This record gives sequence, C-alpha cells and structure tokens, in this order.
Amino acid sequence: MEKMSAPSILRMKSEGKRIVCVTAYDAYFGSLMDEAGVDLVLVGDSLGNVLLGYDSTVPVSLEAMVYHTRATRRGVKRALLVGDMPFGSYQSSVSQAVDSAVALMKAGADAVKLEGAYTDEIRAITKAGIPVMGHLGMTPQSVNAFGGHKVQGRGESAKRLHQEAKAIEEAGVFAYVLELIPADLAKAITGQSGVPTIGIGAGPDCDGQVQVMHDLFGMSSRHFRHAKRYAEAHAMFIEGARAYADEVRGGAFPTSENSF
Ligand code: KIV
Repeated sequence: MEKMSAPSILRMKSEGKRIVCVTAYDAYFGSLMDEAGVDLVLVGDSLGNVLLGYDSTVPVSLEAMVYHTRATRRGVKRALLVGDMPFGSYQSSVSQAVDSAVALMKAGADAVKLEGAYTDEIRAITKAGIPVMGHLGMTPQSVNAFGGHKVQGRGESAKRLHQEAKAIEEAGVFAYVLELIPADLAKAITGQSGVPTIGIGAGPDCDGQVQVMHDLFGMSSRHFRHAKRYAEAHAMFIEGARAYADEVRGGAFPTSENSF
C-alpha cells in the first residue's frame, strides 16, 4: 500500500474518503495500527494522561514527545506519522515553534500538530517544509482556561471557531482536528473547509475521526461519551495478571515445559 503523506491525506477530502486516525506512543502499538491500515498515527501529547499518569497534557515536555515519536517511527511504515507539539513548545515565539517542529521531524515525524489559531507559527513551520495539522475546539492544553474538558463552540463562540478554522486553513494546515464541539457546528465547518477536518467528539460529519488508542481498546476503566470501546483490554490484562499470580502462588507455573 502507498505510503501516506500530508498531500495524500489532503486529497482524501476531495476523493470523499473518510480518514482514519489513532494515537500510538511506541513502536509496538504503532506497528499494530499500521498493520490494521489506519491512515494517520498521532503521537499525541495525550500520552501525558494515558502513559504518564498526569491529569492533563500540560506537564508533557518536548523531550518526552521527541522520545515517543522516535519510538513510534520504528513501528509505523505506511501511515502518516504526526508528532504533537506539547504545551510550552510553540507559544513563546515563532522561532521557538519552528525549532520544536524541527526536533519532532528529526525524531521521525512526517508532520506536526499544534493547538489553537497560531497562524504566524503555522506559516513559519510550513515555510520550513514541515506539514502542520491544526487542532481547534476543546484544545486540551488550554484546559485551565476552559475550566475543565468542556464542550466548546456553543452559542456565540461558534462564530469564533469558524473564524479560527478559516485562519488556520489560510495559514497552511493540511488538516485539522475538531475536538468536543457540537455536531452541527463541526458539519458546518467541514462544509466550508478546503482541507479535511478530523473529529473527536465532533459528530459524524467530519472528514475523518481520531481516537486515543486507550479509549478505543478499553485500556482504562474510564468510559467517555466521545469514544467507543472496540476491545476490553483493561479487563483482559487484569484477568491475565490474576491468572499468572494464581499459577505462580499455586505452583502451576512454570512447568517443565517452561524450564531448561
Ligand atoms: O493528544 C492527542 O491524543 C490529541 C488527540 C486527542 C487529537 O490531540
């Protein structure tokens, strides 16, 4: 199968093909998502929540994103690999944004993603030859300003979201995530957009969908309305660990078959 690129993701909108995106944070899960044929693997800063035990993405460092992007690159051969720019890696200046994007590309990313209408930064990064994916709506790095992970774009703020979408498209993003916004607003933005919209908690009418792999595969005891569980890995791991513990304690493992 053809290696995915930012232009091929962009083309999928005009071809009317839905874009399938999932997060992964290491070579093993990256290779599984690639083997399953997803179009885009995002090394999301959601790793702060699902791998590192933080309650937001705010503490995630650029070094952590570089480390996990490098690892995931070793597993992903076909899908477009997008490295997420963490909080504090692009907000200070345009040159900081370019340097951070370059660090993720040197770690193996095919493109980078950043949150918000940072149009000057998007222009400078794309000028450096790096494809940029945008992210609007409930942008998790701004959770403190939002007062929680709350649906955005209701009422008056819908207009602002339309404007931001237009602004980042003009600045050069090849696609953008719409997170936790009303489905009818996501549909309207998708209709006006020349580049693909990738929804998460933004209804069925975006050009593609993205999900955090831990939510998709039931790797946590938490259930989210915006996600559907396609496996129950949390329960499976606990059952496996309990069975192992029982057998070690009861002397049933290892047997001569596991011995040398
Ligand atoms: O960090 C992440 O996983 C994300 C997705 C939820 C879009 O930004």
